[in-house]
Amino acid sequence: MDLNPQDLLAEAAAAADAATTLDQIQAVTGQFLGKKGQLSEAKKQLGALDPEARKAAGQELNETRQRLQDLLDARRLVLQSAERAAQLEGERLDLTERLTELQRGHLHLVTQARDRLEDVFVGMGYHVAEGPEVETAWYNFEALNIPEWHPARGSFDTIFVEMGEPESVMLRSHTSPVQIRTMENQEPPIYIVAPGRTFRTDTADATHLPAFNQIEGLVVDRGVTMGDLAGTIDAFVKAFFGGEVKSRLRPSYFPFTEPSAEFDISRADGSWLELGGCGMVHPNVLRNCGIDPDIWQGFAFGFGIDRLAVMRYQLDDIRELVNNDVRFLRQF
Ligand code: DAH
Repeated sequence: MDLNPQDLLAEAAAAADAATTLDQIQAVTGQFLGKKGQLSEAKKQLGALDPEARKAAGQELNETRQRLQDLLDARRLVLQSAERAAQLEGERLDLTERLTELQRGHLHLVTQARDRLEDVFVGMGYHVAEGPEVETAWYNFEALNIPEWHPARGSFDTIFVEMGEPESVMLRSHTSPVQIRTMENQEPPIYIVAPGRTFRTDTADATHLPAFNQIEGLVVDRGVTMGDLAGTIDAFVKAFFGGEVKSRLRPSYFPFTEPSAEFDISRADGSWLELGGCGMVHPNVLRNCGIDPDIWQGFAFGFGIDRLAVMRYQLDDIRELVNNDVRFLRQF
């Protein structure tokens, strides 16, 4: 028999190694194990041998076929898994890339300012209080020492709601009614801030919005003085704006405080900017809430949060806060 199994196996091993695709290994397999392969040819010659030699040669051919088969199978498995890996790699979706493309939002700058204000006052031991946006004349005016005949009532540019007696129900024109609601429900000592939405008939312009935000502060305790008020405002201003900014009080008038003041903060150019109103809670206001002014004293303050945001971020138009232009909002 003119077949050398060692040579044949070596030849097949080399051809299998040279094959780099499943198609190629398929072809190599056909070449060595197919009907026209050397092995099949050798098998045909077996018949010419005598029985003894035929048996030995047949056995050798079978062994050789088996070893060829194993060798080619092993190579096919390697190529198969390589092709599968390449296919998977090609179909892979890069999800991390997708994630970084998505833009995350953030809190509106008025909300940020409000949160910071709350943080500063909570840090000084205050609680956060809330009240309704629709109020009665009692809470918005009367209990705050602004009777119906009072000229200050006109200065609030109130938006009334058509319910009950004319001008008896309204959108609150300041957060001061929360002072009354708190004192009605809580025994002194009281230390609260009350942020929230307020409304006036103002037409929107660069410095006004008809719906805006205020924050109210109220302290009721024994032996509270104007000095405590000034110190509190100064501490707040430093905590909110940083150490450089100074504050001052200027005499003013509000029906619900006596004495009353407006408070200003210093600007980089040395000028002063009005931030809000404050004063010692008027004895009538304490009495209206069932609190004895001979035992308890209080101070209060209130100012606009939107204006504070305008100042802090140096905006030139307060309407930017409600235009909802994301190109603007994204900057903060
Ligand atoms: N409520 C006043 C306003 O909206 C602001 C204000 C002034 C609030 C003096 C106070 C205060 O608590 O004591 O104009």
